[in-house]
Amino acid sequence: MSSKKIITERNLELSKDIDKRRIPQHIAIIMDGNGRWATKKGLPRSFGHNKGVNVLKEIITASKNLGCRVLTVFAFSTENWTRPSKEVDYLINLFGNVLRKEIEEIHSESIKIKFIGDLSPFPETLKSILQRAESLTQNNQDFILNVCVNYGGRQEIVKAAKEIALKSFTGEIKASEVNEELFNSELLTKGVNDPELLIRTSGEKRISNFLLWQLAYSEIYITDVLWPDFNEVEFLKAIIDYQSRNRRFGGIESLSNESFEDSYCS
Ligand code: IPE
Ligand code: IPE
Ligand code: MG
Repeated sequence: MSSKKIITERNLELSKDIDKRRIPQHIAIIMDGNGRWATKKGLPRSFGHNKGVNVLKEIITASKNLGCRVLTVFAFSTENWTRPSKEVDYLINLFGNVLRKEIEEIHSESIKIKFIGDLSPFPETLKSILQRAESLTQNNQDFILNVCVNYGGRQEIVKAAKEIALKSFTGEIKASEVNEELFNSELLTKGVNDPELLIRTSGEKRISNFLLWQLAYSEIYITDVLWPDFNEVEFLKAIIDYQSRNRRFGGIESLSNESFEDSYCS
């Protein structure tokens, strides 16, 4: 996962359209379409998952080079347990194998890796690989990679509510002190700002229980490209699209109070 730029003519062309001062600092990605990619090629779904890992490596490098600081990727949802056990087992093994192989390079690139979700149902061997990766990279400063595994947005919100209820019961906090900031501090993503941009591949127009709280005001970019076909060029297209958006956060961008009166109350 070398941080050397992968410069192709197309990348170079697109890079010129990117405003380097307005790079989203936190990008979330629903990496979807691995199974369909493999099936289309007459291959087992596992081939799609393997190819998806290479794409993730390319996108980590691309986002780091661009000046993004945090990437949060959806690797396994709380609902993915409903898949055939062979596929679930394959994915669980894949996480461990990939991490074992890549962790030194992740560390040498000064990437801090974090696993977000309920790790408790995973086998002990995987848990210890994940925990070792987190502790090895915990002081790295250049980039944060959040990998959401056995993650569900609703479960995360319920867990935060339980923590707050418990603290209120023990008198650590008063109910009147519960606000967005406090709630945020109980989420698994505490300490990082919300994603400015959510990318979902494979054309599905849903959030699938991903970062329900954190995506409140994220820009959403959906592409039909399946995750194994996603690459740096597609990533740069998402950034360019993001930069063309007018983020209003419920306000009105161009009208002051005075011009509101002029425009609407004449
Ligand atoms: C995303 O690809 C990876 C995981 C959910 C683990 P899918 O496996 O969902 O692929 P499709 O959506 O069935 O094509
Ligand atoms: C979302 O993809 C979860 C991950 C990418 C890990 P899914 O394929 O599980 O989502 P649905 O089933 O299309 O909503
Ligand atoms: Mg899917």
